[in-house]
Amino acid sequence: MSEETTPYNGPERVFSGVQPTGNLHLGNYLGALKKFVALQHEHDCLFCVVDWHAITMPYDIGALKTNTRQIAAAYLASGLDPNKAIIFAQSSVTAHVELAWYFNCVARMGWLERMTQFKEKAGKDKERASVGLFDYPVLQAADILAYKATHVPVGEDQKQHLELSRDIADKFNRDFDAPGFFPMPEPLIKGPGARVMSLKDASKKMSKSDPSDLSRINLTDDADAMAKKIKKAKTDPEPLPATLEELADRPEARNLVGIYAALKGCGDQDVLNEYGGQGFGTFKPALSEVVVESLSPVTQKFNDWLAEPDAIDEVLRNGGEKAAEIADPIISDVRDIVGLWKSA
Ligand code: AMP
Ligand code: TRP
Repeated sequence: MSEETTPYNGPERVFSGVQPTGNLHLGNYLGALKKFVALQHEHDCLFCVVDWHAITMPYDIGALKTNTRQIAAAYLASGLDPNKAIIFAQSSVTAHVELAWYFNCVARMGWLERMTQFKEKAGKDKERASVGLFDYPVLQAADILAYKATHVPVGEDQKQHLELSRDIADKFNRDFDAPGFFPMPEPLIKGPGARVMSLKDASKKMSKSDPSDLSRINLTDDADAMAKKIKKAKTDPEPLPATLEELADRPEARNLVGIYAALKGCGDQDVLNEYGGQGFGTFKPALSEVVVESLSPVTQKFNDWLAEPDAIDEVLRNGGEKAAEIADPIISDVRDIVGLWKSA
């Protein structure tokens, strides 16, 4: 991609989204939620429950509303404040789907065919995947750019989708001779917890869809379940090393050290300074303590919110109104730019 000639000079804005599909886990907490909370203090932020994305795969119709409330509850329990950040459901702001349509006409088939998440989710029988699943990254670009968001905190798995969002923004600006209209959204990926791996197989990321519940720590797990999963986590027989170099080719040990560091807000080396030379018999109980200590308050608040579905709906409703106030004028400009008959 060649350099943008006229840079975007609008305000900075943060946007991210989480799908309402199944239980949230420690990877989501460290890779996404914990980062969102830190950002709300210094930036204009929108955090979305992306329910339109959730229907791109077979799903339980009766559970979708509850799952949407669950993600909102997790946002709130992690510390997002609806007075600071806009918390809303994607399906309450139609701007997302309208912009996705314009972007469908800008994005190229070849770009989407390269998306690894589509290949993973579609599996062997690509012909039977929904068109929506193929188009998923275009809707994601629309989510971000409907607000002209400049920064997008996500886990490492979303890097390719963010690159696509930038390509779409750039091509839109060029195709319609609207230099600097859309920003090139930057992913915020770095930092501890960007890639939390499975507790059972450190070559795979911790995931909602792993058939083994022992592979992940869920936000709904109680303290005993969390401790049991850490105790059963796969490790090697060696004690922890003293240096990061020695940790490099020990993926399981590296993952557990990384989790400890991310929760404590320190570096991996600090953990090795404290535990280097000690075996997992010592390190695992210490890690359990940190996990339980960090997640229990979140789990507690999560359950409190879930007991108040009306209060969650109120947050989502207010958030949806605020989000639409930002997106609607942008969509109105887009209609004009693409030459439609009516701009509002
Ligand atoms: P998902 O559960 O795939 O909808 O992801 C929601 C958010 O959590 C996204 O920002 C992901 O990048 C992030 N995420 C998911 N799994 C992990 C993981 N194992 N480690 C770090 N971040 C993750
Ligand atoms: N695709 C993201 C995921 O699986 C979820 C998502 C949808 C998203 N729209 C977004 C993330 C916009 C960031 C910005 O995690």
